[in-house]
Amino acid sequence: MTPFLLPELREETVVLCPGATLLRGFALAQSDDLVAILPNLTAQSPFRQMVTKGGHLMSVAMTNCGALGWVSDRKGYRYAACDPAHGRPWPALPDLFRDLAQGAANDAGFPGFSPDVCLINRYEPGTRLALHQDRDERDFTAPIVSVSLGAPAIFLFGGRERSEKPRRLKLFHGDVVVWGGQARLNFHGILPLKPDQSTILGPQRINLTFRKAG
Ligand code: SIN
Ligand code: FE2
Repeated sequence: MTPFLLPELREETVVLCPGATLLRGFALAQSDDLVAILPNLTAQSPFRQMVTKGGHLMSVAMTNCGALGWVSDRKGYRYAACDPAHGRPWPALPDLFRDLAQGAANDAGFPGFSPDVCLINRYEPGTRLALHQDRDERDFTAPIVSVSLGAPAIFLFGGRERSEKPRRLKLFHGDVVVWGGQARLNFHGILPLKPDQSTILGPQRINLTFRKAG
């Protein structure tokens, strides 16, 4: 048996707080197909490290698919309909992605989720995502749906205030976290990725974050 099949034994639903749910293994059944689509998307809009407003190069490499994409540069964070790398639209959101995000949101208590953005984050060993809120979207009524693929990572999930001590959750290939409602603006982040070769993506972790931004 290959090691990355073992998590199939762990499908379960964990309520983290009102509005936030971890759906362990929710994406496992489709994970091979999700991984197989990625090269088509990144051929059109390649991964790149973005720069923050303060001039800091983010360690996580990012790209997007969907009607909009999340971008950051010296002008700040925003959503854009075209990929600034070449000026053409981002690749369309694959039906498989949309269906998965909708299904996860529904199971977590947010029916009718209609994402227009999938931010694709790529973590190599040592890369991290500092504690932050997702607050560049036009309104906060839609939840965030976050799908983990590849190497496991420690997810920090805090409260509405930065000062609240975040809990630490190990996220594995196929896990999905959904947060919305009163948890929509909760702080979250990823600790530096530990090297782990045993996954379908080798040592890297890919995260798909679905949002309704426009
Ligand atoms: C994010 O907050 O955009 C990504 C979180 C993750 O990689 O799990
Ligand atoms: Fe985020």
